[in-house]
Amino acid sequence: MAGTAGAVAGPPLAAAAALLALLVPAAARSPGAAGCEVPPGGRFDCGPERLLSRAGCEARGCCYEPAGPGPGPGSGPGPPWCFFPRGYRSYRAENLTATASGYSAGLRRVAAGFLPGEVGSLRLDVAMETPARLRFTLRDPARQRYEVPLATPRVSGRAASTLYGVQVSQDPFGLVVYRQRGGQVLLNTTVAPLFFADQFLQISTSLPSHFISGLGEHLTPLVLDTAWTRVTLWNRDMAPVPQVNLYGSHPFYLGMEDGGSAHGVFLLNSNAMDVLLQPSPALTWRTTGGILDFYVFLGPDPKSVVRQYLDVIGFPFMPPYWGLGFHLCRWGYSSTDITRQVVANMTAARFPLDVQWNDLDYMDAKRDFTFNKKSFKDYPEMVRDFHRSGLRYIMIVDPGISSSGPPGTYKPYDEGLKRGVFIRNATGQPLIGKVWPGPTAFPDFTNPETHEWWHDMVKDFHDQVPFDGMWIDMNEPSNFVEGSQDGCPNNSLEQPPYVPGVFGGRLRAGTICASSQQYLSSHYNLHSLYGLTEAIASHDALLRVRGKRPFVISRSTFAGHGRYAGHWTGDVSSDWEQLYYSVPEVLLFNLFGVPLVGADICGFVGDTSEELCVRWTQLGAFYPFMRNHNDHGTRPQEPYAFSPAAQAAMRNALRLRYSLLPFLYTLFHRAHSAGETVARPLFLEFPQDPNTWAVDRQLMWGGGLLITPVLEAGKTKVSGYFPAGTWYSLAGVGAPLPRHGGLRWPHGLHHPQQRAVDPLASSPGHH
Ligand SMILES: *[C@@H]1O[C@H](CO)[C@@H](O)[C@H](O)[C@H]1NC(C)=O
Ligand SMILES: *[C@@H]1O[C@H](CO)[C@@H](O)[C@H](O)[C@H]1NC(C)=O
Ligand SMILES: *[C@@H]1O[C@H](CO)[C@@H](O)[C@H](O)[C@H]1NC(C)=O
Ligand SMILES: *[C@@H]1O[C@H](CO)[C@@H](O)[C@H](O)[C@H]1NC(C)=O
Ligand SMILES: *[C@@H]1O[C@H](CO)[C@@H](O)[C@H](O)[C@H]1NC(C)=O
Repeated sequence: MAGTAGAVAGPPLAAAAALLALLVPAAARSPGAAGCEVPPGGRFDCGPERLLSRAGCEARGCCYEPAGPGPGPGSGPGPPWCFFPRGYRSYRAENLTATASGYSAGLRRVAAGFLPGEVGSLRLDVAMETPARLRFTLRDPARQRYEVPLATPRVSGRAASTLYGVQVSQDPFGLVVYRQRGGQVLLNTTVAPLFFADQFLQISTSLPSHFISGLGEHLTPLVLDTAWTRVTLWNRDMAPVPQVNLYGSHPFYLGMEDGGSAHGVFLLNSNAMDVLLQPSPALTWRTTGGILDFYVFLGPDPKSVVRQYLDVIGFPFMPPYWGLGFHLCRWGYSSTDITRQVVANMTAARFPLDVQWNDLDYMDAKRDFTFNKKSFKDYPEMVRDFHRSGLRYIMIVDPGISSSGPPGTYKPYDEGLKRGVFIRNATGQPLIGKVWPGPTAFPDFTNPETHEWWHDMVKDFHDQVPFDGMWIDMNEPSNFVEGSQDGCPNNSLEQPPYVPGVFGGRLRAGTICASSQQYLSSHYNLHSLYGLTEAIASHDALLRVRGKRPFVISRSTFAGHGRYAGHWTGDVSSDWEQLYYSVPEVLLFNLFGVPLVGADICGFVGDTSEELCVRWTQLGAFYPFMRNHNDHGTRPQEPYAFSPAAQAAMRNALRLRYSLLPFLYTLFHRAHSAGETVARPLFLEFPQDPNTWAVDRQLMWGGGLLITPVLEAGKTKVSGYFPAGTWYSLAGVGAPLPRHGGLRWPHGLHHPQQRAVDPLASSPGHH
């Protein structure tokens, strides 16, 4: 039985100049109670998939100690009651050899695991791809498993000198990655056993500090809490609330180290997963399929970490200039007359508007690529009229294709059926779920034929209505029935031995059956790529149809999304808490390589208030993507819907944004061409100042503009952190913010500040 303790590697040899991989043999120790002397913050859960009694725990060779609030997830944060003793054995490493790109080793399972489908031998490959980028993979050498179909750089050979060193410890197996200079250990997977079963892959590591940022998409502060936090990744249509998996998956984190160096880790895996953070500090990746495919980025500064990550997943696309203007939308613009009124009212009230949008209202029976021939009778003319006055136009498109009409009445479905583009159920027929139009089939965007079909549908519609961009919603994909209209089969993909902490408790909650079949693999593997693959198809279709830079905004995302599209943060509520959370969300998506991001200004769900809407517009003027969007049936929140004083404040905010558009456009170009961020957290510019690390109530544009928004009700003053340097008030040097004596809004606006350096000229590069 497992449980034999074994010593592992000593500290890295910082003095060793040469790149070093050591196979450190285990010094056998006899098992005993000593192995259980693990400080509570450093205990790793030995019963992840179910609660264990003392007997059940000890039968696994683990230690049992009731402590803290409860024995497992769901009972509140705290140390696990059943935990691995030190040196718990799972795999041992053998045959470490040098390869053309780095090292490889064989891993052999030396003690029985406790989940079905345990893989007995594994292959470790360590590739020293660049001086700052290390990749390591753990695969089953005997069987090809699903791997994420993301094109990542192909590298042959190994980097001559590297910022990192690597150690492999033999038994129990573990990998250590450390900085050559200074010896800081960045990863040490020896802290807990490795698991590699068919549907349960787990690897843990120590962390060099408590500063961990990333692992979206969730409603979190910029810095994650390491006091027993579980972060679940599985794309889900879910109005943003803390602690639940939201629309996107970005299995990437950035960690700050003492002294201001930074590193990043990306797990290229798209299966449903939990990432657990604990106080020692340590992190556990626990995923339900695929392989373990890690990239480690050594920075050494945080900007370089982001660029190194984007080197792997792709640099962001370059949006058209008009996409950076003001966008206006609501669900409930029920006709072309109303939509035209909105534009006329904006013009009359002297608000800039670059892009007018429509939600579902324009559709005929809520079906894609149709329009209502009554209320939107003059839809094509409306869009042409907008174009004549210099406006652009975007409408919503959902992936679900209405499947219930009589054959011959709805081309997208008829054609899709003929061309075999839909996701299939267990009997090989299109899986039918239910979305806005009623019963729907789901296009499988991993199939190349689907891209052709999607292009054809986009082109047909564009030939009628010359829209300028696409808003792709509901693409987690969202489904109003669980799984399908016919339920889901009972099999290991639907009922995996370990279910991550997904909202709703089941993988199919709010979406389609995990076991449904797509062109590349099962939906179980591909689910979280749905939005990304639809974004790619939409981006490409728009490019072919319009011949110009595409503009796509998507709700669902995955790593690599920013190369094709932007993101809005979904169905946020009209409240002050969500106003705050939008700052870290925007900052995080910039770290994820999706700089074109913003929250619905004034909030989407529920009635806004005048004060909230003014503050949200003032902050929103600094979202890279600036759209006011409102829910059906709630109080109007177009800028012209408020008092003259509120309108004046909003006009000022918009004027300031518009005066800065050339700067914003330049930042996007730098993101596109050099892998930079647009809206960025302060720590990216001031990594040496730890006071900046957790700042997420302020944001920067580029390296020179610091924005300190008012995020609370009833406040006309705001305080923020100003890192060392010379700061100037932008109100004093650039577009003035006129003070309207006696009016409430213009006082205590955001206090934009500009550094002495011309921000357009600042370009501290690292390479
Ligand atoms: C890695 O972790 C193991 C287990 O906690 C520990 O014994 C070892 O010293 C660590 N290695 C390094 C290089 O920190
Ligand atoms: C190590 O190499 C030997 C000899 O080729 C082989 O028998 C053994 O299976 C290898 N070990 C692993 C874990 O791959
Ligand atoms: C536009 O403004 C007019 C006049 O104030 C108002 O009656 C109308 O409701 C507004 N329309 C919309 C869609 O906001
Ligand atoms: C698959 O979907 C079809 C509809 O396309 C349905 O008639 C059939 O019952 C479904 N099969 C299963 C196993 O759910
Ligand atoms: C699914 O199948 C498993 C194993 O065959 C069985 O234990 C379980 O009760 C079934 N679940 C449902 C919901 O039918």
